[in-house]
Amino acid sequence: MQKITIAIDGFSSTGKSTVAKQIAKHLGYIYVDSGAMYRAVTLYAMQNNFIDADHFDRLALVSKLSEIDISFTFNPELGFAEVYLNEVNVEKQIRTLEVSSFVSQVSTIPEVRYQLVKQQQKMGKDKGVVMDGRDIGTVVFPYAELKIFMTASAETRAQRRYDELIGRGDAVSYEDVLHNVQERDYIDSHREDSPLVKADDAVEIDNSNLSLEEQFDKVLKLVTVTLEGKE
Ligand code: DC
Repeated sequence: MQKITIAIDGFSSTGKSTVAKQIAKHLGYIYVDSGAMYRAVTLYAMQNNFIDADHFDRLALVSKLSEIDISFTFNPELGFAEVYLNEVNVEKQIRTLEVSSFVSQVSTIPEVRYQLVKQQQKMGKDKGVVMDGRDIGTVVFPYAELKIFMTASAETRAQRRYDELIGRGDAVSYEDVLHNVQERDYIDSHREDSPLVKADDAVEIDNSNLSLEEQFDKVLKLVTVTLEGKE
């Protein structure tokens, strides 16, 4: 059977990665979490004191981009690929609210985007890939056979992220998480380089009131129709 490229874009915490992982597993495709790559660059910037609550030295970060190596290694126990920054597993560290609070700023830098997009395109060159992010259907894979744009209300998304962080033992407040979600929505959709927009040919799915199963079924139907169309 022919392989296709599946691009899933949308605002933060819309459940993109959950459905992307399920679909990739079902089809035997590679799953790539492009947000994890922007988060890993952000963690690097934090570790090197290029960014904190009071300052962001963009030039210093750009000058060190060639020293940042980001890779993914499949963890069979978890069933997905974890992200490594310069060969160190940072899967947990990149999911903190602190990284979330800086990542949108880091993602506005064109040099960062250029480098990560190049790597993402390489990872998807043989098709058979499900990639989620903000600019996958518009910039990374404009010719993807299937593009999905996921949405849900900011409150629903903040509640999901809050539950996730509390479940991991992080001491966060719902208000802080909601504020972070709204702030990232704004920066992600208003930045100059590759803002988050729905591609003209993307199918929009609002999952505010969908169970995980209903969401999976919906996406799988779209995949099936797309694959049939290619036969
Ligand atoms: O999907 P996520 O919430 O883990 O993504 C973290 C941030 O990375 C998000 O706020 C914006 C940025 N991002 C991006 O600019 N482009 C992508 N393709 C993926 C993520």
